[in-house]
Amino acid sequence: MIVARTVAEARAGLEPRRGGSVGLVPTMGALHAGHRALLAAARAECDTVVASVFVNPAQFGPNEDLDRYPRDEASDLAALEEAGVDLAFVPSAGEMYPPGFQTWVEVAELGRGLEDDSRPGHFRGVATVCLKLFAIVRPDRAYFGQKDAQQAEVVTRMVDDLALGIDVRVVPTVRDEDGLALSSRNAYLSPEERRTARALPRALAAGAEAHREGGDPAAAARAALAAEPRVAPDYVEVAHWNGRAVLVAAARVGSTRLIDNVVLEGGWE
Ligand code: PAF
Repeated sequence: MIVARTVAEARAGLEPRRGGSVGLVPTMGALHAGHRALLAAARAECDTVVASVFVNPAQFGPNEDLDRYPRDEASDLAALEEAGVDLAFVPSAGEMYPPGFQTWVEVAELGRGLEDDSRPGHFRGVATVCLKLFAIVRPDRAYFGQKDAQQAEVVTRMVDDLALGIDVRVVPTVRDEDGLALSSRNAYLSPEERRTARALPRALAAGAEAHREGGDPAAAARAALAAEPRVAPDYVEVAHWNGRAVLVAAARVGSTRLIDNVVLEGGWE
């Protein structure tokens, strides 16, 4: 596996492989089984698999967890090697945002509301870094997790609007046995909080069940969450995106903010 730390190294490493298909899995590291599912999907579909590991400062707000976001480069690189990645792109913040950087991408409608209400500017940071990664790697396919459903919609819209010609693949959420969606931020939870956090997927399941029975999924999920006072909901809404209806939720358990969702109608191919 090539480890490229600069744009020039990434381009040079990919040059001999341009004849075949290239898949990109963008990550912020702290890799878990959810990332491994993205990498496996890329490995199965692409001749060359590139994974980026970059904790993108531009998508964190001033009071968010940028400083304490889990980082373990050696373990991430070992996981990427194990997953059969051909090139790991591990740039510094200075490489991605050199002095004078001033070009930002905004996805005007899908990038507003829900996550953006709590994390203003988040999707501007996500869209900008993804566009830059796409420009460096020039992938045929890029892989994102369904857990970050609004992010997947934002990136898909950007790819379509800017005619980037990349197939955005959305891979189903990987869950622990008790239903909690895998997330690098689960590492912040104490054992007690970890047990409490199960209320979030349970509430979404209650919402999906209500929907199947003709009821109001968001109301049912909110009611289920209200039964667990140690979970502080941020939003519980039905999002209508591109022919899909998705019950989306964000909540705090202690100081940890978790998001999750369940598809009610439609879905990703
Ligand atoms: O989902 C993530 O880990 C990040 O938002 C991404 C897509 C790697 C962009 O920094």
